[in-house]
Amino acid sequence: MTQTKELFAAARDVRRLAYAPYSNFAVGAAVLGSNGKIYIGTNVENISYPCGTCAEQAAIAQMIGDGCREIAEILIIADTAEPITPCGACLQRIKEFAGTQTIVHLADLNGIISSLNFNDFLPLAFNNLEVKK
Ligand code: THU
Repeated sequence: MTQTKELFAAARDVRRLAYAPYSNFAVGAAVLGSNGKIYIGTNVENISYPCGTCAEQAAIAQMIGDGCREIAEILIIADTAEPITPCGACLQRIKEFAGTQTIVHLADLNGIISSLNFNDFLPLAFNNLEVKK
């Protein structure tokens, strides 16, 4: 199995474990870290709606908790006619750990529909924190 197929299978499988009783919209995410390891995440909703978390957020947290700080590739999967793109907040979360070559794969249940460079999503992302000493 190639790494991209593994990434797809990982996101597809974790999506089935989504906790999404309020939206009934299950999302899976799988990150390929710059270390070659795969990290997975799914959405976790809450009865207090704003407390819910996104699939991408969970996968990135897993990567950071394993000591990896660069996303080589990220795959997002949902069961939709058109593949979904990461929400605005998740684009900023991906940005934090993206390199110039980071790839975003968009998938439906049958496979990857498109693969784009992360910079196509958020070319002008906020990235200018000046810490005053
Ligand atoms: N969701 C994600 O997990 N990732 C996204 O990029 C878009 C939205 C989740 C949040 C919520 O649980 C459900 O999808 C519906 O918005």
